Amino acid sequence: MPSPLPEKFSAAQTCPLSLPHQAPNQGAVKAEPRTEPRVTGGKPKLLVVDDDDEICTQMKWALGPDYEVLLAGDRPGALAAFKEHRPAVVLLDLGLPPCPATPKEGFEVLSHILGENHSSKAIIISGQSEKQTALRAVGAGAYDFLTKPIQVEELKIILKRTFHVAGLEKNYRELQQQVSPDAFEGMLGTSPAMQQVFTAIRKVATTDASVLLLGESGTGKERAAVAIHARSMRKAGPFVPINCSAIPESLLESELFGHEKGAFTGAHVQRKGRIEAAAGGTLFLDEIGELPTFLQAKLLRFLQEQSFERVGGRQPVTVDARVIAATNVDLEKAISEGRFREDLYYRLAVVVLHLPPLRERQNDIHYLAEEFLRRSAAESGKKGLAFSRDALRALQEHSWLGNVRELENRVKRAVIMAETKYLNAHDLELENVAKTTPGFSLKEARESVEREMIERALRKHGGRIAPAASELNISRPTLYELMGKLGITRPERAERV
Ligand SMILES: Nc1ncnc2c1ncn2[C@@H]1O[C@H](COP(=O)(O)OP(=O)(O)OP(=O)(O)O)[C@@H](O)[C@H]1O
Ligand SMILES: [Mg+2]
Repeated sequence: MPSPLPEKFSAAQTCPLSLPHQAPNQGAVKAEPRTEPRVTGGKPKLLVVDDDDEICTQMKWALGPDYEVLLAGDRPGALAAFKEHRPAVVLLDLGLPPCPATPKEGFEVLSHILGENHSSKAIIISGQSEKQTALRAVGAGAYDFLTKPIQVEELKIILKRTFHVAGLEKNYRELQQQVSPDAFEGMLGTSPAMQQVFTAIRKVATTDASVLLLGESGTGKERAAVAIHARSMRKAGPFVPINCSAIPESLLESELFGHEKGAFTGAHVQRKGRIEAAAGGTLFLDEIGELPTFLQAKLLRFLQEQSFERVGGRQPVTVDARVIAATNVDLEKAISEGRFREDLYYRLAVVVLHLPPLRERQNDIHYLAEEFLRRSAAESGKKGLAFSRDALRALQEHSWLGNVRELENRVKRAVIMAETKYLNAHDLELENVAKTTPGFSLKEARESVEREMIERALRKHGGRIAPAASELNISRPTLYELMGKLGITRPERAERV
């Protein structure tokens, strides 16, 4: 048995580490250098912070078979070891040099460790008379405390349990990152492509750089813009979206930049625009490709100088707003055709982020569908709904031109209409896909795709023929003709898929 060891910050108490039958020559194991912890093997890492060589030696001897025991004898050594090795659990004696008779240094170590990683587990080692101090340490975030003399069996059990809890918490965090709906600001996606998007958003969010979000309709550009704002230092400020294609050209300038009283007929009072509304926050310019050329110059000036004049105004207004823009049109083509200013493009596209279409992240389809089903079922009080096998197959094989929005809406509709426990391809209105088996004629396949695309374009544009035809790159008469041939009627005006 080792001899009783002096206690450090209580004069009267002694605090031996009680080890079972230690062989005489094993006591000769040399303590690790205090500031350069060494590790061995691939076992869980345990950092022991104690300035008493003998306790450290005994810890190493008793715990070495189960853990990689890292040793440190003072605050700098402990912090360096923690930073380098990231142990899940730390055994911490509070009385450390240069003032081992007080718990001051130990508390410093504790607060640094928790500051670096709030989920790390610190177990305080204390003498009988320092119980109050140890409890204070638990109040400050320590996981547990042990009173000297430490029984090695008791220590082993506590360590085993602590590592177990640390492991469970780690798994839980990783799982949450992957699958929780809130894993990334409400954005779902387990595919590598989406994980890359999340990583890029994390990086870009902390800067003030302008971001251009590219991606097909319904891929989550607006979601991504919201996520960037929510992760930025401007998150307490406003997030102000403006859809450049939804506002008539004649009103867009005043909507964006505001106007002075009397600027035009009907301007009875001064009105601030969306840019001013976004002061201190983020301005989201959606469908930027639709911004008329005469406004592109004015926006460019704002991006360069952070100032502009309201319509009818002479005084420059200065606004600090971060700009995020999005488009699903090919801006480079628009530039080459003279419809979009190249200098504005480069101002907006300091960072370009591509939102991948669903077809490029097949792994996400079932996951998203299940999550939307779970949410919609909960909202409508229909518990226990599930997809049938043909529904799962149809989901996987559908072309998803409307991407996540289309998937979400199809699932929502199916849940509302569901009459049985299993949702099938018919409920999802994906029967055509389910039918795409060998034997399905080329003519039928073509008509099925045509129907699908036309219906989607019409739904997207609220039943308006001109924008739907333009999206499909066909003339209005051709669209009418195809609708007649395929028996398609115009959908309700407000509906969008
Ligand atoms: N990764 C995602 N996780 C969960 N929901 C998503 C995700 N991406 C998109 N959505 C949902 O899909 C719908 C469309 O998303 P959003 O409006 O951001 O797309 P968009 O790219 O801006 O589309 P559009 O080009 O048509 O404006 C929204 O209801 C949004 O909540
Ligand atoms: Mg959008």
